[in-house]
Amino acid sequence: MQHEEAGYHIPVLLERSIELLVSDSEGVYVDGTLGGGGHSRYMLRQLGENSRVFGFDQDDDAIQHAQLLFQGERRMTVVHSNVVHLTDVLNKYDIPEIDGLLLDLGVSSHQIDVPQRGFSFRFSGPLDMRMDREHTVTAADFLAHNSEEELAQVFFTYGEERHSRGIARAIVRARSVSAITETQQLVDIIAGVTPMKHRSKTLARIFQALRIAVNDELHVLEQTLDQAVDRLRIGGRLVVISYHSLEDRIVKRFLRHEARDCVCPPKSPICQCEKVSRIRIITSKHTEADENEIRRNPRARSARLRCGEKIHA
Ligand SMILES: C[S@@+](CC[C@H](N)C(=O)[O-])C[C@H]1O[C@@H](n2cnc3c(N)ncnc32)[C@H](O)[C@@H]1O
Repeated sequence: MQHEEAGYHIPVLLERSIELLVSDSEGVYVDGTLGGGGHSRYMLRQLGENSRVFGFDQDDDAIQHAQLLFQGERRMTVVHSNVVHLTDVLNKYDIPEIDGLLLDLGVSSHQIDVPQRGFSFRFSGPLDMRMDREHTVTAADFLAHNSEEELAQVFFTYGEERHSRGIARAIVRARSVSAITETQQLVDIIAGVTPMKHRSKTLARIFQALRIAVNDELHVLEQTLDQAVDRLRIGGRLVVISYHSLEDRIVKRFLRHEARDCVCPPKSPICQCEKVSRIRIITSKHTEADENEIRRNPRARSARLRCGEKIHA
């Protein structure tokens, strides 16, 4: 396909994700992370006249972009909401079951490339990092109001950063002199306590950790996966593309848990848990982008796709 959306965001693992997702060409699908609309647009090309797609995004920029992109497309409903409200939104539209849910996690290239959003350590801008700008807590607020221990914990857990304590200490010291409100201030603080050769990776990890915390991304993912499985029809599919190991681990564990038909302790002589397997794992190992795609779109390098199919209510 031509990538008309390329200026906003180049969709990752496009053909593979939609091929896995679509089982009924007249079905109802949810794109939980619309972004530049690339996945939804390609999906609609595979779908029939009576299909429906609900495209969620919590970012007002993405919603405005999608409203223009899908103008006149009556099969498409653009929903300005966090996908964590999936159940409520589907109830509102009287949709009892869906045929598939796609999550292409994280932020779009557009969000990263606009300095005013504060997602990138490469651009000077306000330390914002909210995907949903109606949300009140920015990254600057987060740095201002958490203790040194809390900051270190976030950098360690969400950024897997080994020097989390030293960086948290430097932030607390700096904020006692003046508020940290700009990306460049945070970059300078981190640079002051990080050896040159590790700097880029450390900056990437700390910015990632802050973004995950500000948007509560991992809890949202867990809650969304739970709702999605409840709402899928038998034979419907869940496709998730993640970009770092924390997200991928949540998806992998979730699918494995849902695929098990017993969670009793291993030594238990008989099964007492009454758990049923609700999911068949379609991608026994995650799928990655090939070299061609990575050459064309370096962001695809870290993508991991996993898919499960609902087999039991
Ligand atoms: C990686 S981009 C998606 C790109 C999209 N698949 C495309 O083809 O252009 C992620 C988008 O999902 C949105 N997003 C991330 N988490 C979300 C959530 N929990 N609820 C709603 N939107 C979310 C972000 O605002 C961003 O626009």
